[in-house]
Amino acid sequence: MEALKIAMIGGGYVGLVSGACFSAFDTEVAVVEADPARLAALREGRIPIYEPGLTELVAEGVAKGSLSFGDDLKAAVQGADAVFIAVGTPTRRGDGHADLTYVYAAVEQVARCLNGYAVVVTKSTVPVGTGRRIAAIIEHVAPGLDVDVASNPEFLREGSAIADFMQPDRVVVGCATSRARDVLGRLYAPLITRAEQMIYTGVETAELIKYAANSFLAMKVTFINEMADLSEKLGANVMEVAHAIGLDARIGPRFLQPGPGFGGSCFPKDTLALVRIAQEAGAPSRLIEAVVAVNDARKASMSARVIAACGGSVRGATIAVLGLTFKPDTDDMRDSPSVPVVARLVEDGAHVRVHDPQGMDQARPLLPPDVTYCDSIEGALGGADALVVVTEWKAFRNLTPEAIRAAMAGNVVVDLRNIFDPAAMVAAGLRYYGIGTTPR
Ligand code: UDX
Repeated sequence: MEALKIAMIGGGYVGLVSGACFSAFDTEVAVVEADPARLAALREGRIPIYEPGLTELVAEGVAKGSLSFGDDLKAAVQGADAVFIAVGTPTRRGDGHADLTYVYAAVEQVARCLNGYAVVVTKSTVPVGTGRRIAAIIEHVAPGLDVDVASNPEFLREGSAIADFMQPDRVVVGCATSRARDVLGRLYAPLITRAEQMIYTGVETAELIKYAANSFLAMKVTFINEMADLSEKLGANVMEVAHAIGLDARIGPRFLQPGPGFGGSCFPKDTLALVRIAQEAGAPSRLIEAVVAVNDARKASMSARVIAACGGSVRGATIAVLGLTFKPDTDDMRDSPSVPVVARLVEDGAHVRVHDPQGMDQARPLLPPDVTYCDSIEGALGGADALVVVTEWKAFRNLTPEAIRAAMAGNVVVDLRNIFDPAAMVAAGLRYYGIGTTPR
């Protein structure tokens, strides 16, 4: 059978990861990127985001000729079996809705350029009903054009996106025709080891699955965060609670790590969008409304923990903050809990020194100007009165309590990710505050 050809509209995170992964099999992938600077970088093999393994995978695809980057949308879509729309859907200012301007603009262009059958697939997370709207736009721009519209949500975690793509728990395809189903089924066939991994649904269902999955996971994280607060009040240990409930196969152990609240490009945006979608549909989700509110309040309250641990004031104190990104193995700072923590500490008169293995450049525009950026852990920690761990990078886990104690001038450690062993920290002479575990 002839190799499939696809066009990927948008060389952002989702487009790049998906495009590079598809190109690893025999599929011919043309990525269309409109931003000239970004396109130039991609053509030179410079990947503008940090994602482990992505640079290598892109280079392999380009070397064997199955992956290309360009700005000629017409050339990319003509002859393509499927056209993926992977442009950004930022949260619109004011009302929390996903901004679909880029999606609709891309669809219009695609409709004008197509000259034969193709499946137009949304990969961006879009509100339920967008597929239907896209079909209407195509019919309006190019009446009678032979296309099918499909929804194929992605479930990629930053930092492990390639593994998530290559070994998917499941692939969801929402479409209305067997023709579209065949194209997408063939495209994903190399990744599918069990028939149950491939799920075909209607378009609206596929669109809702993405929101339901992310909202459920955000709810799970928020649940354990509340249990952490409760554990602190009751003298219980949330890590043991999480472990024990996670062994129940109905609950499962993952996404039960308490922390400073969820951030990133998906959970905050998708929970908010689901709240709006549900409100407008007349079936409000009280549960996810609460998740959004609880998580926002949690992120805003983390600095108060640090201030309390420092005896009620941080004025004049030197505070080392390790980790700025919303999670490890990414340079993504979107909605990171580090932003309100650092802002408040600076506002309250602390000298804040930060270190992050990947996120410092992205952090600069988001943090107050008088923060000191340190190239090393030691640079941030040396002589500090207090240490705050905001992101659980592996390099931080490897620090020994003795090394921390020796480097610091003070002895307060606020570990918002529970990466250290409380007993060992206390034994080394540190005043250790974890999440839901601290012996108070
Ligand atoms: C998420 C989804 O996992 C992925 O399927 C989706 O397609 C995109 O959104 P991502 O945002 O990359 O991926 O990060 P994820 O690993 O899911 O973490 C999200 C947030 O929850 C982070 O802030 C993380 O620190 C937090 N989290 C996660 C916890 O606090 N505890 C956990 O146990 C898990």
